[in-house]
Amino acid sequence: MFNDAPLTIALPKGRIFDEVLPRLAEIGIHALDDPHHSRKLILATNRPGIKLVLIRASDVPTYVEYGAADLGVVGKDVLMEHGGDGLYEPLDLGIARCRMMVAGIPNADHGPGRLRIATKFVRSAERHFAAQGRQVEIIKLYGSMELAPLVGLADLIVDLVESGNTLKANGLVPLEQIANISARLVINKASWKTKHRSVTALLEALRRVVERVQPVPT
Ligand code: PRP
Repeated sequence: MFNDAPLTIALPKGRIFDEVLPRLAEIGIHALDDPHHSRKLILATNRPGIKLVLIRASDVPTYVEYGAADLGVVGKDVLMEHGGDGLYEPLDLGIARCRMMVAGIPNADHGPGRLRIATKFVRSAERHFAAQGRQVEIIKLYGSMELAPLVGLADLIVDLVESGNTLKANGLVPLEQIANISARLVINKASWKTKHRSVTALLEALRRVVERVQPVPT
């Protein structure tokens, strides 16, 4: 059973949260309060010893790395920015799928100078352009990246694209793909050892759900 030892699971508020709750329900974990109407940040579940903590997506790796949560669910985009060394990342949950893309104004002529790139994914953007040997200036933003090329703040953006509707609505086009993104289960390294039975039981239960929903190709 995965509640041999108490477990805290960190979940990001927002889209991943809505997609991960049904997965947890399938392995028999339900929040006792309705998480969509509660303002609580710590939610008890029907499993004694298992609690959920609700935090900003970008804080999930930090909570898990420091052991404030034993496990967490977080987008690959956030992990790419945080750096994954302090965590185990054993399972792609296959939810909240999108792509990290370079996008810009169609057929724009950027000239020979250093390109300006607006993004909240600073490390991913730096790595992407460095791998191409392109010198760029990264401008850190916190949202609405699509605006930046329209008002002359940047030549290009690096952002997440799901349907492509936001780019299209703002007259931008996707230019290069940086990574496929989806939500990952992450595990604190000490919890992996000290709560091994509980943690692996939960991991394997989730793995079975993921494989049932999207069978692993043989
Ligand atoms: C994300 C992303 C894009 C949009 C892409 O923004 O940054 O703006 O979704 O989705 P689409 O391709 O389906 O249109 P989000 O709404 O998460 O807000 P943000 O601006 O804070 O990143």
